[in-house]
Amino acid sequence: MQTLRIAAVAAMLGFVALAPALAQEMEYPHQNWSFEGPFGTYDRASAQRGFQIYKEVCSNCHSMKQVYYRNLEGIGLSPDAVKAIAASVDVPTIGDDGQPAERKGLPSDHFKAPYPNDKAARAAQNGALPPDQSVIIKAREGGADYIYSLLLGYEAPPADVKMGDGMNYNKWFTGHQIAMAAPLTEGRVEYADGTKATLEQEARDVTTFLAFVANPEMEERKRMGVRVVLFLAFMTCVTYAVKRQIWSDVHH
Ligand code: HEC
Repeated sequence: MQTLRIAAVAAMLGFVALAPALAQEMEYPHQNWSFEGPFGTYDRASAQRGFQIYKEVCSNCHSMKQVYYRNLEGIGLSPDAVKAIAASVDVPTIGDDGQPAERKGLPSDHFKAPYPNDKAARAAQNGALPPDQSVIIKAREGGADYIYSLLLGYEAPPADVKMGDGMNYNKWFTGHQIAMAAPLTEGRVEYADGTKATLEQEARDVTTFLAFVANPEMEERKRMGVRVVLFLAFMTCVTYAVKRQIWSDVHH
């Protein structure tokens, strides 16, 4: 009976250890990210450059509907800078006459989408839908490592691969044929902070920004976690001291 139980537990542990290996078909090269680990935080400068990339490049096709302009304060932009960014966008509203009109964006507005709906997006993109990027980091196996690899993974197709119409070869995309042409190139943007815009830098920065928007509350959660662990450690000491006190006059 005992042996059986041990065997069952061992089999379960084995499965738990193996499951991720079975689920993940591709191993994306691991990058060091500032936001990893129990004390990780977002590299503010990188995330701000990443926002610049999103704004100047990705937002031409990809929406980010769950993100508000005010969230940008989380990457270190001042309330005034955020106000100015929001105000540079016209958002639809209803005018005093009850007719559709436009007004300047506010920090409380969602990021404006490039297309009014999915049909319009597909129509403009050769039938392919650029997925919303609000939580794309969480929605893809491999997370930040995958997005980074994908952005750098464009290559000439091998001779024996027949490419579909308008498709691009990417070694990290499932099936290797992706409707999105390489969005980043060397010097694709001119960084406001003067950083040299190499391809790797751009991919790293926009990935950091995408990680931030998917998890804007991550730093607060980690800080809370540390506080909880400290509190539990403290309470353990107190309980131990109390136990010693209570049992101190019981002699064995
Ligand atoms: C010209 C339009 C266009 C631009 C600009 C663009 N994309 Fe895309 N993107 C697409 C389309 C279309 C798809 C869908 C591709 C497919 O399903 O084959 C896509 C898909 C993706 C995917 C999903 C891949 C997957 O696993 O399904 C990611 C991630 C992505 N884009 C990131 C970016 C980033 C980051 C930028 C900015 C640096 C960017 N894109 C700029 C059109 C664009």
